[in-house]
Amino acid sequence: MQRNVHVLGLPGSLRDDSGTRTATRRALAAAAAAGATTELLDLREYDLPPRDGDDRDAGDAPALRERVAAADAVLLGSPVYHGSYASPLKTALDYCGADEFEGTTVGLLAVAGGSYPTPTLEHMRSVARAVGAWTLPLQVGIGDAGAAFEAGELVDDDLGDRVDRLGEELVAYAGVESYPTAVTETFDPVTGD
Ligand SMILES: Cc1cc2nc3c(=O)[nH]c(=O)nc-3n(C[C@H](O)[C@H](O)[C@H](O)COP(=O)(O)O)c2cc1C
Repeated sequence: MQRNVHVLGLPGSLRDDSGTRTATRRALAAAAAAGATTELLDLREYDLPPRDGDDRDAGDAPALRERVAAADAVLLGSPVYHGSYASPLKTALDYCGADEFEGTTVGLLAVAGGSYPTPTLEHMRSVARAVGAWTLPLQVGIGDAGAAFEAGELVDDDLGDRVDRLGEELVAYAGVESYPTAVTETFDPVTGD
């Protein structure tokens, strides 16, 4: 692990009793146990109007960007909203870009009221790629949210272990800044030559 890894959790639900926030907290606890400093960014505390393309500094956007830029790894968490991820997270991400995310390791977590939230995870993965982040292959989907959490904890131990692993991998793979030599020796991953 690189030294002084800082992991930021960014859950996209504004609900007081959010399962996404609960699971994000658990992943951050695992990251802290693996040696990182951690921070949960609570979007309820940020004034972020819908993004006007001409105004990247509206509301608390500069403060948000500062927190994201300070992280070596970011856990994006979202509830499933209509088969995709939630608008508070989208708005937050729209105030950020490659300046904050390039070279940042990103983990993905989604919580659904219904079944396994694959499209939501895929949509977040696409956005992470668009801003130049390194996204972990491991992702966590939590379905049947009404039964998955009890008293602010995940009920299922296997699922909890998977969330822990996500937190640990964010630490283990933080600081990935370039393609490994084994890859660049055979071809240029940017041009494909
Ligand atoms: C606007 C809205 C749309 C939703 N759409 C879906 C959906 O498409 N599929 C699903 O499984 N659950 C859907 N849900 C349920 C949420 O995914 C579920 O309540 C989840 O636990 C919310 O996460 P949270 O506890 O972190 O707020 C929707 C909820 C809302 C408010």
